[in-house]
Amino acid sequence: MSSKAPAIHDPSHWDSVSTSYAAEADRMTGRYAQAAWSLAALPAGARILDVATGAGALLVPALRDGADAIGIDFSPGMVAVAAERAAEVASGERALVMDGQNLAFPDNSFDAVFSIFGVFMFPDPAAGFAEMARVLRPGGLAVVAVWENAGGAGPAQLFAQAARRLFPDQPVPLPMQRLFNSPELLDAAFLEAGLAPKSVHGVEYAWPAPSVEWFRDHAKLAYGWSPVWQALDEAERVAFAEEAAALAGDLPPEGIYSTALIGLARKPE
Ligand SMILES: C[S@@+](CC[C@H](N)C(=O)[O-])C[C@H]1O[C@@H](n2cnc3c(N)ncnc32)[C@H](O)[C@@H]1O
Repeated sequence: MSSKAPAIHDPSHWDSVSTSYAAEADRMTGRYAQAAWSLAALPAGARILDVATGAGALLVPALRDGADAIGIDFSPGMVAVAAERAAEVASGERALVMDGQNLAFPDNSFDAVFSIFGVFMFPDPAAGFAEMARVLRPGGLAVVAVWENAGGAGPAQLFAQAARRLFPDQPVPLPMQRLFNSPELLDAAFLEAGLAPKSVHGVEYAWPAPSVEWFRDHAKLAYGWSPVWQALDEAERVAFAEEAAALAGDLPPEGIYSTALIGLARKPE
């Protein structure tokens, strides 16, 4: 196994997939971001922060609905894409480069703080939850989406299956050290950050199966963040993508079902 920093914690990894992420990810994460936005049911004009915004899956619909929203991400590539998409629906500087574990905002500045498939992957997720709580105003809402499947969702599940087939003697390592993939674990993380858990919702969608070529062409996007991918050389990566493409040939047309847990919590008054 490589001794490099995990790709999942490296902004340059996310930079390297930012363009294809914008083109492809909304098919996957955008629907869950929309569900999180609906569950929050915020009044018009609410001041919103989207932590680890990526290509703006939550930021852009929030702006479209008239929220005063800002997204942050530690990847300059992702921020450039989110800013471009935000500019199509709202004026002002809407996406900023920032580490979610050290937010450059004063205490009590937002009515709601979201993190959609973001804070659970930070090297120090507790610091991310604590920063979300700090910048929320008293009575404000925190909304966190995580995958129920600890190894990743949608196409990542197919790549994990390919890894088990290619390397049957090696366990497929989990991408994250600490798990939040049950209502109890998510609520515990909110409590640890001083937030009062409100509800956790299981939300399931199918990710429609693309062509088998998609799996060859988008292997880095779908699985490049995984420790498995990082341990492979170029030739092995090609073989690995080929294995995933072969498995994709057997997918049903509705694709791969994935469940997100969307947790809501309030900052005490
Ligand atoms: C799986 S993507 C989710 C993006 C977006 N929220 C979505 O749902 O499509 C994870 C994002 O977290 C960002 N990220 C990871 N660690 C971060 C950190 N410490 N601070 C800020 N952003 C981070 C990555 O750059 C990436 O854009």
